[in-house]
Amino acid sequence: MARPAADAFRLPKTVVPDRYEIRLEPDLERFTFAGEESVSVTIREPVTEIVLNGAELEIHQVFIQYGQGVTLKGEATLDAAAERARLTFPETLTPGVWRLTLQFTGILNDRLHGFYRSTYKTVPDGGGDAQEKVLAATQFEATDARRAFPCWDEPAFKAVFQVTLVVPERLQAVSNTPIVSERAIAGTSRKAVTFAATIKMSTYLVAFVVGELEATEPVRVGKTPLRIWTVPGKTHLARFAEEIATFSLAFFEQYYGLPYPGEKLDLLAIPDFAAGAMENLGAITFRETALLVDAGAASHAELERVADVVAHEIAHMWFGDLVTMAWWNGIWLNEAFATFMEMLAVDAWKPAWERWVTFAVSRAAALSLDGLQSTRPIEFEVQAPKDADAMFDLLTYEKGASVLRMLEQYLGPESFREGVRRYLSEHQYANAETTDLWQALGAATKKPIPQIMDGWIFRGGYPMVTASVDESRRGLVLSQSRFVYLADGGAPPELWQIPVALRVGVRGGVVIRSLLLSEAEARVELPGPVEWALVNAGGYGFYRVRYAADLLRKLTRRLPHLAPIDRFNLINDAWAATVAGLTPLRDYLDLTVQFRGETDRNVWTVLIGSFAYLNRVIPAPLRAKLEALVRDRLAPAVERLGFSPEPEEGELSRQLRADLVRAIATLGNDPEIQAEARKLYKGSLEEAGAADPSLLPALIAIVAHAGGDPEYAEFVERFRTARTPQEEQRYLYALAGFRQTDVLSRTLEKTINGEVRTQDAPFLARSLLTSVYAREAAWTFVKANWETLERQFPAKSGIRRMCEGITALATPELEADVREFFASRNITLGGKTLEQYLEQLHVAVVFREREGPTLETYLARRFLR
Ligand code: BES
Ligand code: ZN
Repeated sequence: MARPAADAFRLPKTVVPDRYEIRLEPDLERFTFAGEESVSVTIREPVTEIVLNGAELEIHQVFIQYGQGVTLKGEATLDAAAERARLTFPETLTPGVWRLTLQFTGILNDRLHGFYRSTYKTVPDGGGDAQEKVLAATQFEATDARRAFPCWDEPAFKAVFQVTLVVPERLQAVSNTPIVSERAIAGTSRKAVTFAATIKMSTYLVAFVVGELEATEPVRVGKTPLRIWTVPGKTHLARFAEEIATFSLAFFEQYYGLPYPGEKLDLLAIPDFAAGAMENLGAITFRETALLVDAGAASHAELERVADVVAHEIAHMWFGDLVTMAWWNGIWLNEAFATFMEMLAVDAWKPAWERWVTFAVSRAAALSLDGLQSTRPIEFEVQAPKDADAMFDLLTYEKGASVLRMLEQYLGPESFREGVRRYLSEHQYANAETTDLWQALGAATKKPIPQIMDGWIFRGGYPMVTASVDESRRGLVLSQSRFVYLADGGAPPELWQIPVALRVGVRGGVVIRSLLLSEAEARVELPGPVEWALVNAGGYGFYRVRYAADLLRKLTRRLPHLAPIDRFNLINDAWAATVAGLTPLRDYLDLTVQFRGETDRNVWTVLIGSFAYLNRVIPAPLRAKLEALVRDRLAPAVERLGFSPEPEEGELSRQLRADLVRAIATLGNDPEIQAEARKLYKGSLEEAGAADPSLLPALIAIVAHAGGDPEYAEFVERFRTARTPQEEQRYLYALAGFRQTDVLSRTLEKTINGEVRTQDAPFLARSLLTSVYAREAAWTFVKANWETLERQFPAKSGIRRMCEGITALATPELEADVREFFASRNITLGGKTLEQYLEQLHVAVVFREREGPTLETYLARRFLR
């Protein structure tokens, strides 16, 4: 018997769509649309009603016809809460193929989901006042195709879509496939644009964009023409995306061993866009910062972002679009794979970017979320749409991609690719489950994949591997237990199958070993006495390592001989152990002294991140001393790099300079660096190129941190008149980086007063909540304006993104208030999101209470001022 709880969110499978013919006519002045669809459906058992999805639609007419036979008229009733339409008919519909015809109307909403409107301003040729323009776009994932047309809005109901858009003659219309006909409609100023039928695919991948758009000249990749679309006047910012897009398309055809499953590929920059980008087959949509960039003026981080997103979405054309998860519990199959492939492609495109090494920062973020009691398995039960949206998190993307990388390295890249090819070709145009992937990888590699992988995918959390040397000195003892920030005394022991890579120094040489640690403890026999040992060498494993004191001491002494990724894991795991209360804070702070000479950007990201964490838990009177500690640790590296790069200096080093300068001037509050940064910033306004492009975003952040009223006014103006999406973004977030209460309250207002796009407002609010200077006011503001924020922010994701900021409200009083607020209002954020935010906050408060006194003495002894 079907469980009622699940049934409330899953459609019956008695009626299945095969092909939709959809005609939509958007009205960009009234913000409405009219639609008509004719769906060829297979009825599998006799029914008197058809249930499908619909939301914020009105259905005006319902007909159904069997073959060429009689047409029956039906009635539609909408259940708004269930987002469903129930179509009832006067007679029983017998099994067979029927044609269902519906007429409906809907709204072009402003919540950036479903069929929605986006606005932008243009200055007419020859000057004059800016005009506001409207375009219409779609965002259907996860469950919002139902807002544009009635449909079976679940990923497993794959069908063919044939779309016609009726639009004003002067506008462009783009959808998933090429245009097959374009006809003026007599007596109107409109045209009917008809697109080719799509491949068999899920509803969430359908897309339409209508507006006054411009495109680049198509470039061909094999048979596929590729173009980039923007609002008028921005195609000059498309070159960089075009390069990575054409590269990735060719790269993936090669890797997957299957041709691109479409006839054309358009990439469209939409001025209002809730996510970063969306993999609609053949019509990928992006927020502007993720597609358009002036490569000569952008920082490395900004360019990497564009390359990542473009490669990621193109990877989905196969993983997600051609082969799709059967239900949202398996969304990791889409997102983890696209993230993994994104790294592969970007790494192949720009080896100097060392994308897999930088990926360690993402892996670390996933390890930190997955160390909570309230974590979840990568594959996790989903019922309501809200829970589907909450699945798009670090566990799906970053943990998912990490465990795939771990598996790839364990199986060998070639065998792994073989399994992936098998999986794609076996399930193309259809849906698949995780077990199907295991099956294909198993067939290609002859390895017991489920045994190794199930613990990583179907269980939350991960192990910590403890390493020590036994009495014989020739045995390395490895043991595993779950890593958690807050211990739960009663939890039963858990085991994972851990691919462990070892590098061990024994007298006279280095021994390299790989093994699968599946027991609670194992002993590795070595040919001689152990001098030092590195566990998780190369950093592919999704686990932490804890060394016995003597091993840690020896490894620290060898720091300069370790690869950057191994230094990264050493300090990252040490910091996690400190937050978890396993390592004394004093030891961690002493360890950071050893990293003064560090040259790797990722390693510095961990160090700076830990200082930022301390800054959020430290009482205000102690802040000046923490600033001194930050200067003490960072100054040598800042001095070594200076403010301007060597002529031949690589991009990573330039970005490292920017990160360090930013941190020493903000977290370290260094007045001399601030003065220098201000000077260089001014210089770069007068002469573009005076500062290295990677450094400029940092300079802007510093000027905000050290600035006041005049700088604020200037930055607001520069935000309004920015020439590139990146420039706009730098100035926008800088508005949250000031320190004066009165200007910060102006930034808070901007999250709801219409000055900032709703696509950005949740992120701006989040950064105010995490600023130690703004957080109390921000929290008060959020509480006072909750209903407004809920109404205005992008549906589903907006509030969730903003609320991530509550993890930084790290005082016992604020924590109590936060808990009270969410509990008394019965707020949920989908899935386990709220529980996770609250636990992260609690971890920080527990840390503050536990380490506060140590931190105070430590700083007082060393930093007297
Ligand atoms: N499929 C997602 C977009 C999405 C996310 C739709 C959440 C609905 C809900 C897309 O492929 C994606 O993952 N976009 C990322 C960027 C990517 C490079 C990680 C995003 O939007 O942040
Ligand atoms: Zn994705």
